Amino acid sequence: MAITISQLKTHIGQTVTLNGWLYNQRSSGKLVFLQLRDGTDVVQCVVAKDTVSPEQFELAKKITQESSLSVSGAVLEDKRSPLGVEIHVASVVLHQLAENYPITPKEHGTAFLFDHRHLWLRSRRQHAILRIRSRVIKSIRDFFDQRDFINLDAPIFTPNACEGTSTLFQVDYFGQPAYLTQSGQLYMEAGAMAFGKVYCFGPTFRAEKSKTRRHLTEFWMVEPEVAFLDLDGDMALAEEFILAIVQDVLAHCRPELATLERQLEPLEKIQPPFPRLSYDDAITLLHEVGNPIQWGDDFGADEETIISKQFDRPVMIHRYPAAVKPFYMKQDPANPRVALCVDMIAPEGVGEIIGGGQREDSLVSLETKLRTHGLDPAVFSWYLDLRRYGTVPHAGFGLGIERTVAWICGLHHVRETIPFPRLMERLTP
Ligand code: 4AD
Ligand code: MG
Repeated sequence: MAITISQLKTHIGQTVTLNGWLYNQRSSGKLVFLQLRDGTDVVQCVVAKDTVSPEQFELAKKITQESSLSVSGAVLEDKRSPLGVEIHVASVVLHQLAENYPITPKEHGTAFLFDHRHLWLRSRRQHAILRIRSRVIKSIRDFFDQRDFINLDAPIFTPNACEGTSTLFQVDYFGQPAYLTQSGQLYMEAGAMAFGKVYCFGPTFRAEKSKTRRHLTEFWMVEPEVAFLDLDGDMALAEEFILAIVQDVLAHCRPELATLERQLEPLEKIQPPFPRLSYDDAITLLHEVGNPIQWGDDFGADEETIISKQFDRPVMIHRYPAAVKPFYMKQDPANPRVALCVDMIAPEGVGEIIGGGQREDSLVSLETKLRTHGLDPAVFSWYLDLRRYGTVPHAGFGLGIERTVAWICGLHHVRETIPFPRLMERLTP
């Protein structure tokens, strides 16, 4: 029976079969070295002229990069190899000879690599990033499952906007306009009133016309929502959550972080408490360093970067001007000009990874806010029902997976953190 390369260490001295693809090869006279990859790792397989048939030796020599093959042989300890083992090959079966594989060890441009994303996924660096993504997602689910949150999926087709009307993708829904979801939040609010603590995790869509290193048109968001929670409780949850993700990746993804040459120190420094800064404090901080921002302006990438550089851990900025935030935010009773919201800004220049806050729980205020945001309360009638029938203070947030992975991996751009990125100028492969 075939085993995987990751299992080899427990089979030293045995004869095994491995299935995979050729990562690389070189030959020197009487030996052919096949670097075999199978998705779990890469192992060196040595084919010796004097231990296999002449046909097998000739076959091994002609196997090209990314050809599919199976190899059988003995597992021997090899202290010099990164894996600690190598295979002494007894037989090779070639399944398909791949000719002219387009991605070679030479340097390729970014556009070329993204055009070949379906093949580029096989490279070591992409492997490391996407394994970390997978781990981040697992730790997110573990975090909420361990705290008795119910996973409740939100719909993708929606009748209304959640995060403003300028970034909606409209589709034809049997003759009616519908929109791809920008956020599952409104549905999670219904869920929180039904189950107390819920989260959704799924793709969200925004017709972002900005070509920045932080924006995708399709990205994955996890959105917890909790009944009887206020802004302070929401910030405490967000802090605990980010700590858990970072600790989990540090505990399980050391080889991947090493492949990416990620400095570990900035991640190891992530300890509670995270600084909590009001928008007003953030404005003061920005003015101190000469930034011309005015009270009332939203923060852009520049402002976020300046603020995050002052700290060695994520910063939570709360109480932004209500006017720059969506309709569903609750205004601060102590100062109605600001909303009870929070953005978490990651260190090292990635920008906002979390947006959330306490929701408007009064029916009357919510109806007024919908109107001042130019939204039709009739379309939100179901959402207003949540305030008609047993409304309570509640709060939640959304975490963008790709920005979080970009931060943890130390990447400049979010596009490599998702298997098949969707950007304004990219819909294929
Ligand atoms: O701040 P946002 O817009 O918040 C919401 O959608 C809330 N309804 C969430 C909630 O409270 N349940 O988005 C949340 C996060 C951002 O902080 C960012 O990490 C990510 O989603 N995000 C994007 N990631 C990649 N590309 C984009 N275009 C993104 N837009 C938002
Ligand atoms: Mg936001």
